[in-house]
Amino acid sequence: MKKTKQQAISITELLALRLSRRQALQASMASFVASLLPNISVAQGESDILGFNSIPVADLLDEVVVPEGYQAQIFYCWGDPVSDGPAFKMDASNTANEQLVQAGMHHDAIQFFPLPAMSHSSNHGLLVMNHEYIDPQLLHAEGGFADSPLRYDMAKTRKEQYAHGISVIEVKKQDGWQICRPSDYARRINAATAMSVSGPVAGSNLIKTTADPKGQEIIGTFNNCSNGITPWGTYLACEENFHGYFKLTELKFASEAQQQAWSRYAMGGDYYGWAKNEERFNLDKHPNEGNRFGWIIEFDPYNPQSKPVKRTALGRFAHENVAHNVAQDGRIAFYSGDDAEFEYIYKFITNGSWDGTVGAHHGALLDDGILHVAKFYEDGTGEWLPLQMNQPNINQETGFDSEADVLVHARMAADARSATPLDRPEWISVHPKTGEVFVSLTKNSARTKANAANPRSNNHFGHIIKLVENDAASRTFNWEVFVKAGDDKSGATIKGDSYANPDGLMIDKRGVLWVQTDVSRHQMNKGNFSQFGNNQMLAVDPVTGLTKRFLTGPVGCEITGVTMTPDQKTMWVNIQHPGDVPTVLREKGIIKTPLTPNAASNWPDKQANGRPRSATVLVTKRDGGVIGS
Ligand code: FEO
Ligand code: CA
Ligand code: CA
Repeated sequence: MKKTKQQAISITELLALRLSRRQALQASMASFVASLLPNISVAQGESDILGFNSIPVADLLDEVVVPEGYQAQIFYCWGDPVSDGPAFKMDASNTANEQLVQAGMHHDAIQFFPLPAMSHSSNHGLLVMNHEYIDPQLLHAEGGFADSPLRYDMAKTRKEQYAHGISVIEVKKQDGWQICRPSDYARRINAATAMSVSGPVAGSNLIKTTADPKGQEIIGTFNNCSNGITPWGTYLACEENFHGYFKLTELKFASEAQQQAWSRYAMGGDYYGWAKNEERFNLDKHPNEGNRFGWIIEFDPYNPQSKPVKRTALGRFAHENVAHNVAQDGRIAFYSGDDAEFEYIYKFITNGSWDGTVGAHHGALLDDGILHVAKFYEDGTGEWLPLQMNQPNINQETGFDSEADVLVHARMAADARSATPLDRPEWISVHPKTGEVFVSLTKNSARTKANAANPRSNNHFGHIIKLVENDAASRTFNWEVFVKAGDDKSGATIKGDSYANPDGLMIDKRGVLWVQTDVSRHQMNKGNFSQFGNNQMLAVDPVTGLTKRFLTGPVGCEITGVTMTPDQKTMWVNIQHPGDVPTVLREKGIIKTPLTPNAASNWPDKQANGRPRSATVLVTKRDGGVIGS
């Protein structure tokens, strides 16, 4: 076994480094980012697969930092054209129609698809990524809904809808990686894109509306958090916090069943005031519209004309991501977590078997199968409980009247089966060699009573669980807590560099588990979260547990979404909501407020009249080697 030797950093060196980083925050720096910090290793331990020297925490440094021998480069920012369209205007004065062909806001999950389609090319391909949500104060030159509800016209709502959704861009390595402009593949899917509906909920009364009396076509997707792929080469985008896009004021006039369902899904909130300009977002008037979101959508990124499909058999909840594994008999399991406190993880198993060939026509496999929810037992075993009519406690007496009803109200069906509530399930990733399933549980400060699967009450820092199954189609599993995040005082079990609030997970072909963190804006760089610094990405050896910090993000950001080329020599990482930090940091003078309202950073452009932009960052090893090796 190869040993990685590291040196300890002295406290004097650390203090000097912190000072320089705080100064760096206040300086104007170029948008090209490289490894700015000295090579200081923190992690101690052994690993065959982690060959780099880890980096220290970033104490309010407004840059992306990667280890010595690596470089990180800004690649694709909110507002950049997907093809040869209009350029981003730094004062955010681009129109809705310009936004329609530019990168959306708040990049989340990302996936590389090689070109030619389904080849092993590592020099040419498509990058497909989600734009989870928007910050209206930054999106509009003159501020958002909160500032100007009376002046909030349809053009603003449209710009917001177009800044949501998915980007498809074509990328090619010539003298370094470039975005191909123009490109026939370039595409934006958004909150106004027409999609079909398939599976048991298609055509059901639960999703019929005046605009769609047959329940067969849904306009738009939004709050696309993380993603997944199918083994046949299509992209899956998840709809996460869909509940907050709807206005709901007249709850008391709805039927008791409808009130229960809306309350269980926390419907309402009207985040962006869309109901004012587009009536379908008013549930008082269009009660079924809310049932048309909270799904996983599938589309073929290689066909720019392909119409996205909402695959309802996978259930309706706040889908974080979706990860798959192929069973011995060719059936496919799709795992997905429901990101809210005390929610569940689910597994959909196709009824049909996949024949190992590629092509979007295999999508029909996603329409026929059984959704299950996880029950964890204290002895380290667990069960996947089917969510279907006439399973225990799922019947007409308990309020369910069809398979469509069970899927639209999957959370309530899971409640009926007494599934195990978890500490905010975020990403799930399947180890490509062992089939082990890793689940990040980001935190749950509302938990008052610990149990085996949620081992800490008042869980501020989160943990990761590992499931072991005999086969992807198994209905039982064994499980263990893989790691508890946080600091020593909180009973953390990290071997190496510490972190809090695991969120994004990806296990690469070599078996490296990449962990991305999402310390919330309310806690970041404050109190007992200060020790973790800015949000970051770590590389973990899942066998030895060794954890090494690989990348730290700019002030206020979350690190979410990572993908690699098949040769693993190119990595793209998404930096979401830079500059989104609490006012308290500015009040204390820790962060200087730039000219932009509502933001504490101008990363990555660093222009005085600019605004922070979520961005995809390209990471390569200077010697052209495999990332993380
Ligand atoms: Fe969109 Fe649960 O993160
Ligand atoms: Ca997330
Ligand atoms: Ca999160």
